[in-house]
Amino acid sequence: MDDEERKAKFLEAMSRGATFVSVLTTDGEGGRFGVTVSSMTSVAAEGVAPTILACVHQLSPAANAILRNKQFCANILHESQQEISDLFSGRQKTEHGQRFDAVKWSKSGNGQPLITGATANFECVLRTSVLWETHHVLIAHVLAVHLNDDPRALLYGQRAYRRAIDIA
Ligand SMILES: Cc1cc2nc3c(=O)[nH]c(=O)nc-3n(C[C@H](O)[C@H](O)[C@H](O)COP(=O)(O)O)c2cc1C
Repeated sequence: MDDEERKAKFLEAMSRGATFVSVLTTDGEGGRFGVTVSSMTSVAAEGVAPTILACVHQLSPAANAILRNKQFCANILHESQQEISDLFSGRQKTEHGQRFDAVKWSKSGNGQPLITGATANFECVLRTSVLWETHHVLIAHVLAVHLNDDPRALLYGQRAYRRAIDIA
């Protein structure tokens, strides 16, 4: 299998697993930025505090802001928030500085932007990171969790937005 074929098959294989969609938001000396990710996941609920990780491209201004600010929120989007996913993935051509004007948000206890209406928000403090070739792997402790009454999360799979439905 040559490199091209392996990469294409890898992307196709990964696209077959639906994931929830999060926006990582950060504010501080490094600036206020947000980025849409499907790579946010749990590392562990046990330990000093629950831990999450996310992988963000090294060229993403949000990744570099998180590395400087050391604080961020991970917002798991509600299934109605597809436009917010597009906004923070650059699919909607809105400048970084104006993205936060286009969404409702509030400040969390650790001074980070909490996206209103997300199905869950995690207030996070960055504990370590690894630059793995193209992407920063960010590992963070969760300081606090906010839960929306409506648990329906936006999903992304087979290269499209989805929602979870019961298996009949
Ligand atoms: C559903 C979805 C999931 C994404 N997941 C990731 C991810 O896990 N890591 C990442 O670096 N980029 C991810 N992206 C891409 C970034 O959101 C976006 O392309 C990148 O930030 C460049 O846009 P910007 O420079 O305008 O912010 C994802 C995009 C979408 C739409």
